[in-house]
Amino acid sequence: MNKIFELISYLNKNTKRKLIFIFLVIFVNSLFEFMTIGAMVPFISFVSNPDKISEIELLKRTSDFFNIQQTNELFLFISCAFLITIFLSGFIKIFSLKIINDFSATLKIELGKKLYKEILYRDFEYHLNTNSSQLISSQIQQLDSSLSVISQFMLLSLSVLSILGITISLFIIDYRIVFFIIALSSLFYVIASISTKKYSIIYGKIIFETRKTIIRIVQESLGFIRQIILDDSHEFFIKEYDKNNIQNSLAETKSATIAQIPRYLMESLILSVLVISIMFMYFSAFDFNNYLTKIGAFILGLQKLLPLFQKTFTNIYSIRQEKLSISSVVQLLKETKKYNKNSRDKLVKIFQLKNNIKFQNISFSYKENRVLENINFQIKRGEVIGIVGKTGTGKSTFIDILLGLIKPSSGNIYIDGNKMDSNLFRRFRLSVSSVPQDYFLLDRTIEENIVFGKSASKIDYYLLNKVVNIAMLQDLINSLRNGLKTFVGENGINLSGGQKQRLAIARALYKEHSLLILDEATSSVDSETEKNILENIINNNPGITILMIAHRLQTLKNCDYILEIKNKKLIKYQNISQYKSKSEKK
Ligand SMILES: Nc1ncnc2c1ncn2[C@@H]1O[C@H](COP(=O)(O)OP(=O)(O)OP(=O)(O)O)[C@@H](O)[C@H]1O
Ligand SMILES: [Mg+2]
Repeated sequence: MNKIFELISYLNKNTKRKLIFIFLVIFVNSLFEFMTIGAMVPFISFVSNPDKISEIELLKRTSDFFNIQQTNELFLFISCAFLITIFLSGFIKIFSLKIINDFSATLKIELGKKLYKEILYRDFEYHLNTNSSQLISSQIQQLDSSLSVISQFMLLSLSVLSILGITISLFIIDYRIVFFIIALSSLFYVIASISTKKYSIIYGKIIFETRKTIIRIVQESLGFIRQIILDDSHEFFIKEYDKNNIQNSLAETKSATIAQIPRYLMESLILSVLVISIMFMYFSAFDFNNYLTKIGAFILGLQKLLPLFQKTFTNIYSIRQEKLSISSVVQLLKETKKYNKNSRDKLVKIFQLKNNIKFQNISFSYKENRVLENINFQIKRGEVIGIVGKTGTGKSTFIDILLGLIKPSSGNIYIDGNKMDSNLFRRFRLSVSSVPQDYFLLDRTIEENIVFGKSASKIDYYLLNKVVNIAMLQDLINSLRNGLKTFVGENGINLSGGQKQRLAIARALYKEHSLLILDEATSSVDSETEKNILENIINNNPGITILMIAHRLQTLKNCDYILEIKNKKLIKYQNISQYKSKSEKK
């Protein structure tokens, strides 16, 4: 129960106000419950013994007030008032259900976005250290069930207060039981379940589909987080998520409302049948006995009480069941609060490299494992640098430090003399195109994968064509029936390793920025094609700075100089032949 209130405390002020309104409506609802049962007594006693009505204070005053002389007139008046109360009560119940269900949708939209945004904006190191996608997607999925607890809680209040209203009424009257109404209810429910089947299928499908898409978006984006941070394209995924989430929530709301309407229609129906048949009997001079009064009230009362008790039970049951998922969501929301989000929403201006990037005494360790030690080094604008080193020596790590994806354990990085902080890194990354060693392809078309992160309506086809040519993708695309619109499959499963790599290169080039990083970007491409791609890149981007990691030395033939990472240090060579002869000597 505490957790529920804790979860509520994370809502916007507006949403909290809605919550108070809902509880007011729930209270009014229970008043109506009380009145419907209570009104049964004067109504039936009137029928069974019209002469005694003068003994009922309330009726006497009413007839005086409206100046009603004739008994029949008074009876008609009372019947109408009773019917109106019944329908109002039914309406209020449907209304409170609707606002409770709508409220859950609001909750889901509000908290869902908050949580997803929180997770996606975490920095790269958080994702490195967490088995993130599984943990987090399960937390997002739990959001659903934990939020359902809040609506369960409100429904529970609705049931309990209604039970209270009805019981008080019955307590005042007395008690007995009659069963014919149960037969009527079952018939009604059969009809109701047939007529709502259509909706449950339609909405069920929407809910199912959007939930699948939501999980896919979440998992894809988390697998893609490095590129998202580099491109600063968080909003792209957030928008897609939000769209599906809204569809999903609305379908759920509607379906939940429809599923519960029959119950309340049923109640209004039964009561009307009762009232109308009693009216009929009255006018046909049927002989009533005294006991009918009480039985009538109790038919009504029990008919209302039984399902309410049932609901109270299931509500409590599901609240208990969801205890764990609610805790995990509350936990994540707690973290949102303490997490600094100053730099998130500001539009960042690109920081272009003008002169140089300096590494000053940079050391880095993954926990216990020291990878780089005391690196001092400078990259000048326009240089083409090759980086070599045995596998696992820290080449990719070096790049990640350069991009600010991971923070060095000690030392500083300067760009054009400015010391790097997280904000400057974010701006700097916008000027970097990178083909990481473990790039990720979206399960969308070739075109979408290349222009990823930029809005689809603004595709620059001239540039697209250019990068396709530079990355030597033209032949592939010409050979495909759907060309650029061909789907690549999950993480490019439909493409070969070399094709995927060239696609990743085209994506990096489409960004058209001044620093290009190629981490084993051509390792799966044959040497001839590789040579052409590299020459294309250099010829088409005069003045571009390139950092190129490769195991195949031939790849680095055109580099201005070579850096070797060895024993946690950087060693510089004039060119690839100097590196070759030096390493052969050893
Ligand atoms: N997330 C991580 N957590 C802990 N250790 C890591 C992590 N990533 C890499 N390492 C370790 O850091 C070292 C350097 O890894 P890195 O990926 O930089 O090597 P690399 O030179 O790029 O190798 P390769 O040529 O195979 O790509 C390796 O020993 C690796 O095991
Ligand atoms: Mg590597």
